[in-house]
Amino acid sequence: MSLIKETDYGTPAAKSDKKVTLTIDGFIVTVPEGTSIMRAAMTVGTEVPRLCATDSVAAFGSCRLCLVEIAGRAGTPASCTTPVADGMAVTTQSPRLKDLRRNVMELYISDHPLDCLTCSANGNCELQDMAGAVGLREVRYGYEGENHLKAEKDESNPYFTFDPAKCIVCSRCVRACEEVQGTFALTVDGRGFQSTIEAGMAESFFESECVSCGACVQACPTATLMEKSVIEAGQPEHSVVTTCAYCGVGCSFKAEMRGGELVRMVPYKNGKANHGHSCVKGRFAWGYATHRDRILKPMVREKITDPWREVSWEEALGRVASEFKRIQAKYGRGSIGGITSSRCTNEETYLVQKLVRAVFGNNNVDTCARVCHSPTGYGLSKTFGTSAGTQDFDSVEETDVIMVIGANPTDAHPVFGSQMKRRLRAGAKLIVIDPRRTDLVRSAHIAANHHLPIRPGTNVAVLNALAHVVVTEGLVNRAFVEERCDKAAFAEWASFIALPENSPETVAPLAGLDAKEIRAAARLYATGGNAAIYYGLGVTEHSQGTTAVMGMANLAMATGNIGRRGVGVNPLRGQNNVQGSCDMGSFPHELSGYRHISDDATRALFEAAWGVTLEPEPGLRIPNMFDAALDGSFRGLYVQGEDIVQSDPDTKHVTAGLAAMECIVVQDLFLNETANFAHVFLPGSTFLEKNGTFINAERRIGMVRKVMQPKNGLEDWEITIAIAKAMGFDMSYSHPSEIMDEIARLTPTFAGVSFKRIDELGSIQWPCNDKAPEGTPIMHIGTFVRGKGNFIVTGYVPTDEKVGPRFPLLLTTGRILSQYNVGAQTRRTDNVVWHEEDRLEIHPHDAEERGVRDGDWVRLASRSGETTLRAKITERVAPGVVYTTFHHPNTQANVVTTDYSDWATNCPEYKVTAVQISRSNGPTEWQESYRDLAEKSRRIAVKVPATAAE
Ligand code: SF4
Ligand code: SF4
Ligand code: SF4
Ligand code: FES
Repeated sequence: MSLIKETDYGTPAAKSDKKVTLTIDGFIVTVPEGTSIMRAAMTVGTEVPRLCATDSVAAFGSCRLCLVEIAGRAGTPASCTTPVADGMAVTTQSPRLKDLRRNVMELYISDHPLDCLTCSANGNCELQDMAGAVGLREVRYGYEGENHLKAEKDESNPYFTFDPAKCIVCSRCVRACEEVQGTFALTVDGRGFQSTIEAGMAESFFESECVSCGACVQACPTATLMEKSVIEAGQPEHSVVTTCAYCGVGCSFKAEMRGGELVRMVPYKNGKANHGHSCVKGRFAWGYATHRDRILKPMVREKITDPWREVSWEEALGRVASEFKRIQAKYGRGSIGGITSSRCTNEETYLVQKLVRAVFGNNNVDTCARVCHSPTGYGLSKTFGTSAGTQDFDSVEETDVIMVIGANPTDAHPVFGSQMKRRLRAGAKLIVIDPRRTDLVRSAHIAANHHLPIRPGTNVAVLNALAHVVVTEGLVNRAFVEERCDKAAFAEWASFIALPENSPETVAPLAGLDAKEIRAAARLYATGGNAAIYYGLGVTEHSQGTTAVMGMANLAMATGNIGRRGVGVNPLRGQNNVQGSCDMGSFPHELSGYRHISDDATRALFEAAWGVTLEPEPGLRIPNMFDAALDGSFRGLYVQGEDIVQSDPDTKHVTAGLAAMECIVVQDLFLNETANFAHVFLPGSTFLEKNGTFINAERRIGMVRKVMQPKNGLEDWEITIAIAKAMGFDMSYSHPSEIMDEIARLTPTFAGVSFKRIDELGSIQWPCNDKAPEGTPIMHIGTFVRGKGNFIVTGYVPTDEKVGPRFPLLLTTGRILSQYNVGAQTRRTDNVVWHEEDRLEIHPHDAEERGVRDGDWVRLASRSGETTLRAKITERVAPGVVYTTFHHPNTQANVVTTDYSDWATNCPEYKVTAVQISRSNGPTEWQESYRDLAEKSRRIAVKVPATAAE
């Protein structure tokens, strides 16, 4: 294995279709118009020396190392900033150029420490390489004069250092921060020799606006910006391309290793979801994989108050099998079930649902996607015919109007957030519908054309009002509707949507908006060119989540914004494999590829493949499992990679359900909150320790490749197989590729997918089959998957969760950039420096009314329960609305969320809870008692020798 070195072409690719032919050092070269001479030279293998150019950012032309000669032109122009021209004859090497380049390098080196042998970049430094390339053998100037060699290092960022003594002020970092990331945290301060790179207003990196995406570190050609992990461990020696295990963007990374040790994660330029960019989580927050809290040995206990006992895999698996069999014999076949995780691979998820259906003999399998994007699956399949987003991320490059609803991409989907911001800086218009003033509403060089700070719970009403404007102001795309949609369904929908109850003037007061703004946003969406909707959990996690998804689909169809690049309806998936866990048949009513379990032909296919008879009735959904546990009919649960105590709503109900069960098996990396109720703990493997695939928000199947041996001894898919075998079912696969082969055989939309094919293509967007052998970047071109597009009447029904005198404020929840979901991974990394606790955002007006000051402890109470956390006073939230994240178990934000859920899918209504805030002295009784249980469970575990890796 060797280190994967991606070619740097020096300047970005030109997009023109027009070709230009020239000669470079006598070789004929044909390249797209607009290509730089430097890049054109690379196509014939000529690397012109350079320092300030790199192909991730526009050329700047400051270092003067890349000079060339052009026949018939005076001087020596910079090849990075000079575009090719037809008939041009370029010379890249001559005695004059050599002298010029050597002189330039000499000046750089005369103000650079000569500590190459001990420098952390030694062997991977472009300055060092260029000194060699230009043949620099001596430096005539001494170090006595003014220089920067004593400049102070900035070590404030937990993951990288900034050593200005080594800076050559090439500004690659500044341009990366602007062009790639879009944060504008860096500047070149001063002029000429006095120029320095500054973060923020001459602050440290940590204090500045920097979001630690790593783009500047990536772009830096010297050791100035350097990963601390490389400084500590040394330069990596080999690498493996894999997929980030955090969010649904699905970035590709090179895991760079020394032996079996991970040294750094470098975003992969050929990654089709991220094109070489990353965020702080995927780039830096991988330390949890070797955290000392990780449990590496199976453990069992009789009662949840007993100490854990470390046992062999054989004993643990034997216990799982005997307990599950005992429970089924006593309470019936339907008394046990399983929960799959959107953090696990497709292959693992597929096996868990197979275990439940084929071995447990019931359909009691559900996924954590239940609590996030289940309305997306249902809503989009009923309107378009497919339970997935319609576009690839790159489609946004052709979007003229971006509408973001209930999503915060710069925090939750950061790499796509950066891509979106690039498009906005290039001139696209922006509509944001969100109760909070997210970063997209206004940040450096970005401002939304319309921000509708909607009252939580009124999405459907506002979507209807937007559609009302489209229908009543003659903005319907008649040709599209006539040709592509069900006419009767459209007529029924149009007459409903035109009713006065859906007008902006009726909706505005109840949504807390200005009717004129709703009208203006609707007109912009309908008439501004290619319009694309991107949405998140702020749409789905409502009692009318499915209705809102249908409302967006209606709006896109009515305006003809579907079925080509630049348009579409796109869910931004939270966890890395939400799409995949749904695709794999994790829901109790569906087999893989969204085929209903009651369909005889589908069932027969799986029955023949698995050699079992399947139950035709759907099984229990997650909330129904807890209900059934409390009524005594559900007694055993296998939870793979999910922390339902922390992530599911109405925590008291969840924990009561879990406490009522007789055998809970938790398979995870850490003793999570759910493990407090477990009888068997099976240690899981990280994404670095296994093979498999994830599917991102674009339906893109990306490869997860094993870069180190599993510290727990088994990959997660092997554990599920071992449970099946212990229960007497022969599940035999020698590699996850064989599991994918089975998925492909049984699932028409995956028919052309195999590990070999993914290796060949880099990644594949399903559907991938005979009709689309290379996958499908854009859905519904020419015709909808279901045939005619289906308009569905979306009547607005206000949630039963109402504010009143006891609970006058509305709580809504969300994520923050540095943390991920329940925080099990990110809390075990240095990311905690940015978010060490969940805070409650509250508007100054509401805070003042309650005597709450910034940083005060506040009691947050709803009809479900109460918790305490500290207040953050901010105008990001509107008066009457409060907001918090849910990353920390000691906050237990879900204690206050209610049991209300989406009418179609049971997706919890996390985004609307009526609450009251009051000042408090600290944690509530519930938090203390819960913390006691968690602490006790952990203490007991820690007492067992050698359970954790140091
Ligand atoms: S920090 Fe690195 S990328 Fe930035 S100007 Fe200095 S040498 Fe160039
Ligand atoms: S880490 Fe990212 S946000 Fe921070 S300065 Fe570098 S490029 Fe900018
Ligand atoms: S954007 Fe998402 S997938 Fe990409 S690096 Fe960040 S967390 Fe990972
Ligand atoms: S690389 Fe062209 S001027 Fe620096």
